[in-house]
Formats: sequence, structure tokens, C-alpha cells
Amino acid sequence: MAKNPPPIPAASDSIDWKQVAEWDEKYVFHVLYTKDEYHSTPVASAEGCYVTLANGQRIFDFANQLVCVNMGHRHPRIQQAIRDATEKFGYVWEGMTTEYRSRAAKIIMEDMGVGRWAGRIRFLSTGTESVENMVLFAKLYTNRRNIVTRSYDYHGWTNTMSGGNGVRGYRSSLASGAGDPVIRDVPDSPSPNYHYAPAPQCYRCPIGHKYPNCKDSKGTLACVRATEHLIRTIGPETIAGFLTEPAQGAGMIHPPKEYFPQIREMTQRLGVLWLDDEVMTGFGRLGEWFGYDVYGVEPDIMSVAKGIVSSALPAGGVVLSKKLTEFFDNWRFSTMSTFGSHPLAMAAVAANLEVMVEENILERVRMLGEHLGAGLADLERRHPSLGLVSGRGLMWAMELVRNKETREPFVGVDRFSIYAKTPEVPASAVVGKVCFEEGVAVGAFLPNSIRLATAFIATKADIDLGLRALDKGLAELDKHCD
Ligand SMILES: Cc1ncc(COP(=O)(O)O)c(C=O)c1O
Repeated sequence: MAKNPPPIPAASDSIDWKQVAEWDEKYVFHVLYTKDEYHSTPVASAEGCYVTLANGQRIFDFANQLVCVNMGHRHPRIQQAIRDATEKFGYVWEGMTTEYRSRAAKIIMEDMGVGRWAGRIRFLSTGTESVENMVLFAKLYTNRRNIVTRSYDYHGWTNTMSGGNGVRGYRSSLASGAGDPVIRDVPDSPSPNYHYAPAPQCYRCPIGHKYPNCKDSKGTLACVRATEHLIRTIGPETIAGFLTEPAQGAGMIHPPKEYFPQIREMTQRLGVLWLDDEVMTGFGRLGEWFGYDVYGVEPDIMSVAKGIVSSALPAGGVVLSKKLTEFFDNWRFSTMSTFGSHPLAMAAVAANLEVMVEENILERVRMLGEHLGAGLADLERRHPSLGLVSGRGLMWAMELVRNKETREPFVGVDRFSIYAKTPEVPASAVVGKVCFEEGVAVGAFLPNSIRLATAFIATKADIDLGLRALDKGLAELDKHCD
């Protein structure tokens, strides 16, 4: 995980960047790195799909930060809405109604089609909170305690939600830096109420099958059969919900097309709620408003965040089906969130959603997604270290391999990596470093995978710049192939 520090520029007219870096390194708590590994990366500004470092270097944001700035940094409509809202509001709590919140709810329900299956949305502040609330609603509705999720899933970072993460390295544990690797999991986590079904990862099937030969005589996928087997073993009548992401954003896996229709049929047959975590995929990321739209199914509860506000301010939410809405309408839910429905955040949400609808942004995501997919397919043909590209819309994953025939990864533990030791060939870091030198930031959170995403306002030329940098990064990694 050690990274090279970008050069810190000297004092400019107004900001002493060396001082900024010094206070940052001395006083701020940093995630993912030990004190010795960490180096400040001072950023002066962000605009559209670019980030400008303090040294003046412009970086194409080919990771879209954490796949979350859907309409780009500092979208003028969102900025103006926030400015206007500050003229009227400091704060009011979620028990009071603002026109921003009503408008945002209307757009989601009526203009984005959610009202087909859903009754109400509760607005919150972050993705983790929204998934946490989704699980709370599921447990309260069903009066059941168990949650089934999957290997390689990611649902948040807090004490309770991190237990829902099937990406072992992201359960908020501690991993030692130098020396012998040591892992300290959070005591009592994950909760024994979390259970993990196999991820629908066809490239290296966790249960040893080969798609599409894994289907039984009725066409059911092996991973869906294994999930049903797990649910039946635990007891469907004890399960509050099956919690999934439409595309695994941290695990970087897109399922086969049959997966969600079959999961929906199975969960309905067994009387288990489907808890659809759309924190990353919601609001156009996959070229549809929501991930479930891609697969022609509808969830029981959905969590959202990130794209709901293009991350201009913290905002999230949890959406209840009509049936669950009817149930909860008869109860007092004894809880409150200070920052949920914050008026400034809601003004930003309403503006962000309005722009998306007005600009028919899904068309643009699909068009750019096709361009990006074609460029990645070309890289896949030419580079021995690029085993697989997968994705849709503006959310793509690259699988890096030592050997294309055998699909052997560079780092054996792959998605179960817990970062206690820097591997011999940290494949994603090798590619990421070259890209950064070329002025392109990519997502390199897993050892053998690269995550790619852009803002929806990117151009084909921006994407081509990113592809050229990847070409160079992969050429460097190719040298390590068998
Ligand atoms: C699918 C999913 N759920 C939940 C979260 C957690 O969201 P947040 O970081 O806003 O708490 C994320 C964040 O990446 C996510 O991708």
C-alpha cells in the first residue's frame, strides 16, 4: 500500500501548501496507510471530471473519486442551488418539510420510475447509514434477525455494517504495516447474524463452475442454487433479508444477466425480502436509473447515496416498497437523524436529480459506456496482463492476470487480501502508478483489479486520455506476465 508522494509545491500567493501538508500529516487521522506510508496529496480544486493538484497538475478522475460524482465536480446547477439555499436556511430537522425535500422525493418516485413499486423514501446523510436503515427496516418488518449477503459485497464501514462486507479487507479491521503480517479484526464482528452466499463471479467461480454450463435443467445458475441452499439451511423464516449490490463496486464484479431475475424469483418464493443496495449503482451509473432496472426486477427495500447528490454534499436515503410503506405507515418509528434531510443537502439533491432528468443523462451514460467498453476490449486483446474487462454504463472493472490462459492472478489471495503485506507484484498499484504519472487517477483498491468510472459529463476525448494512460500502465505490468 506504500505510495510515492507527489511533489509538494512551494507557497503560492494565498496558500502555503507545505504547511497544509505538514498539519495534515501531523494532526489528521488517515485511513488505509500507516503513519510512515502516508504522504499528503494536496488538492487545490476539482472541476468537471478533473482534479487539480496543488502543484498545478490536472488529473483526469477516471475513478470518479469513489464512483460518486455522477454529474461531475462543481456542476453549476447544483452549486447555484446550494448558494440559494444558504440564503434561506441554516438548518431544520427531518420533522419539518422543505420544498427541496418534497421536490427531490417527487422526482425519484415519479420521474425516475421508483413509484412503480415504492411508497416512501426517508432521506439520510451517507451510504452506510442508508444501508443500516434498510437492514433496520427489514428486521423490524419481518421480526427476524439474520441477514444473508455475499462474498465480495460491500455495504459500509461502521461497526454493524462492516460485518456485511464480503470483501474481507474492508471490514474496518487493522492490518500491520512492515514486518510479519498481523490482522486485528473488530472484536465481535462480523455479527453472527450475517451469512455469506457465493458471489456471482463467473471469471473465477467461487464454487468451481463454468458459466453457462453451471445452469441446471431449469436454467438456474449454480450460485443461485447455492444461495437458496444457504437460505434453506439457515431457515428462511429467520432471515430478514438478502442484501446485495446490483454490481459489486468494491468487489468489482458484474453478475450474469440471469442472476437477479432468478434471485428475485427465489427470494419471493421463500418469503425473504430483497435488500437492494444501490448506493453506487443508483442514479444512472449503469445506464439505467437503478441497477434493478437493468435486470427487469424490483426490490423490497433500496438504499441510495453518492449519485443522489453527485456527492456535492452528504446525502443518502432508503426507499420502501408499497407493501412495506403500508406496514410502517401504522407505526411510530422511534428514531431521528440530526443531519438526515438537511436543507442544504436536499437543495443539492433536488437540483442534481432535475439536471439528470432534464438532460436525459441516461442516453449519455450509455453512449459513453459503449465507447469506454470498446476501448477496454481493445486493451484486453492487446495486453497479456488484462484477463477480463466487465461492466456497463460508466462502471467498469479490469481483472489483471499473470497468465491469461490459466487466469492466475498476480496476488493469490485476490479479493480476500487484507493488506498486511505489500505483495511482490502489486498489480493494480503498478498500473495505477503509471496512470497517475500520465495524469490519470484510476481505482486500485483491490490487488488484481482496477475500477474505472467517470462523471457523466466526461467527453469521449477525456475517456481516450484515460485509455492511453491505461495502455502504458498495462504495458508495464505485461513485463511481469509468465
Ligand atoms: C454499495 C455500497 N454501499 C454502501 C457504501 C457506503 O457508503 P458511504 O461511504 O457513503 O457510507 C458504499 C460505498 O462505497 C457502497 O459502494
